[in-house]
Amino acid sequence: MLLQVGDLKKTYSRGHQNVEALRGVTFSVDRGQFTSIMGPSGSGKSTLLHMLGGLDRPSSGSVRIDGQEIQSYNDDQLSNFRRRKLGFIFQFFNLLPTLTALENVALPVLLDGKKIDEIAPKAKDLLTMIGLKNRMDHRPDQLSGGEMQRVAIARALITDPLLILADEPTGNLDTKTGTTVLELLAQMAKERKHTIIMVTHDPRAASFGNRLISMRDGMIEADELRDFLPLNSVAVPSPMVAPGLVPGHPRAPVPRPLNNISLPAPEVTSAFASAAESAPAPARNLPISEMPPSTPTFANSPRETSKNNGDHSPTL
Ligand SMILES: Nc1ncnc2c1ncn2[C@@H]1O[C@H](COP(=O)(O)OP(=O)(O)O)[C@@H](O)[C@H]1O
Ligand SMILES: [Mg+2]
Repeated sequence: MLLQVGDLKKTYSRGHQNVEALRGVTFSVDRGQFTSIMGPSGSGKSTLLHMLGGLDRPSSGSVRIDGQEIQSYNDDQLSNFRRRKLGFIFQFFNLLPTLTALENVALPVLLDGKKIDEIAPKAKDLLTMIGLKNRMDHRPDQLSGGEMQRVAIARALITDPLLILADEPTGNLDTKTGTTVLELLAQMAKERKHTIIMVTHDPRAASFGNRLISMRDGMIEADELRDFLPLNSVAVPSPMVAPGLVPGHPRAPVPRPLNNISLPAPEVTSAFASAAESAPAPARNLPISEMPPSTPTFANSPRETSKNNGDHSPTL
């Protein structure tokens, strides 16, 4: 059993009121399972995902991942565990705007002290696998939404994580692009035995997994296993070069030597985790121009009750 969750409870205090976001959640997940978690807004889906990812601490109960009780970890241990053993995919992609696709994919490993040259071959392999061979030197503003989310998936895979956690990964993509991303995730689980837990409000998105957990009022209401959809359409799109991005074109990215990367400040790289905390899906259907910035700051964090409050260490 890869993941075991036991009687997990989380109570937030808001002013004089307590909100019981999780009221005793128990389930376990096998390796290679692609679990979708659905439920009405406010039913505790994001809270559960945060507890599983060690982004926040439960009020009581246990989360055991690959035999390790993560709630017993201190903050440093937890952040190392997150960076090395978990992969995160968020609704707003959370790529760092100044880094290329390749550098964004490599980032979790770079933050762990490795050199880009050591990890570049693997990052290139992953980008090639997800159909972005011709986008490696592009920065996020030179990529489409679907391409950005595929970069985020490659980034989530770079450490061969035990568990991939996704919160509304297709929430900002059109249906067709979303389908490509979901097929890619299903393929990762089915063919490469990655274990994925995805929160979604969309039944169609949920149908790509092989398990559906339904939540209501902070509890599991239903839990059903199903078959994967047949993977008939090809998950990897053709490596077409977008207009304006042909080599030599003014907007085409200028390749930089790989050992020339200056890593952004820790507060920037912590955007991953803080985004998960500070994006309670307020803007799901906003046009891109009105979306919140992809690198939210801690000032916006709603995590009032967390023991980690005020901790500005990188939480990737
Ligand atoms: N940081 C927080 N502080 C106070 N209440 C919170 C916080 N995060 C979530 N909640 C409350 O917990 C409940 C579950 O929220 P959430 O897990 O975000 O639900 P979902 O993701 O299913 O929409 C909601 O009532 C929400 O308002
Ligand atoms: Mg949510």
